Amino acid sequence: MIIAIDGPAASGKGTLGKRLADHFGFAHLDTGLLYRAVARVLLDRDVALTDRDAAARVAQELDVTHLDDERLRGAQMGEAASVISAYQPVRDALLAFQRQFAGQPPGAVLDGRDIGTVVCPHADVKLFITASAEERARRRHRELLSRGETTDYEIILNDIRRRDERDMTRSNAPLKAADDALTLDTTHLDADQAFQAALELVTRKQ
Ligand code: C5P
Repeated sequence: MIIAIDGPAASGKGTLGKRLADHFGFAHLDTGLLYRAVARVLLDRDVALTDRDAAARVAQELDVTHLDDERLRGAQMGEAASVISAYQPVRDALLAFQRQFAGQPPGAVLDGRDIGTVVCPHADVKLFITASAEERARRRHRELLSRGETTDYEIILNDIRRRDERDMTRSNAPLKAADDALTLDTTHLDADQAFQAALELVTRKQ
C-alpha cells in the first residue's frame, strides 16, 4: 500500500506523513530531505547551486542513509533545495530510490511535491495538503524559533511565497495536485485535527 502526500512548503505534510505511517505501521520518507541533502553537499563543497552538472553528480552519488541530520531542516537548505530540485537530471537521479522505498511491504508513506504525479502515479491514496501562505509562515516561524533559529515572520512569509512560486511554475515536476488526489486544507486545523481528517480520507479510500 502506498500513500502519496504532496503539498507546498510548511503545509504540515511531513508531520502528517509521519503520523499516518506510524498509525499503519508503514515506512515514511520525507522526500524533501533528499533534495536538501544534495543542496547541503554542494554548499559544503562551495559549489554554486547553478552548477547543474555538479548537482546531478551529487544526486547520483547521494548517501541516502544520512537523512536524519537536523542541519538539513533549516530555512537556507529549503531554499537551496528548491533551486537544485528544478534540474531534471537531479530529479532523475533520486527517482529510483524513492520508487524502491515506496515498494516495501507492508506499505509506505512518501511526502513531497511530485509523489502523486511522478514518483508514485499508481499510489493507493493521494493526498494534497494545503494551507494559506500566512498560516504556513506562522507555523514555520514557531518551528524555527523553537529550534533556536533567529527568524522574522515577514521574511519567512516572503520565502514561502517565493518557494511556492518556484515550485509551482518550474517545468520539471511542478508542484500540483494529481487529478485523483484528495485535497485537505489545514489552515484552520491543528496537527491532531489534520491527522484525523487525513486518516478519514485514507480509510474511506482503502
Ligand atoms: O518539503 P521541503 O521543504 O523539505 O522541500 C524542499 C524543496 O525540495 C522544495 O521547495 C522543492 O523544491 C523540493 N522538492 C521537490 N520534490 C519533492 C520534495 C521536495 O522538488 N518531492
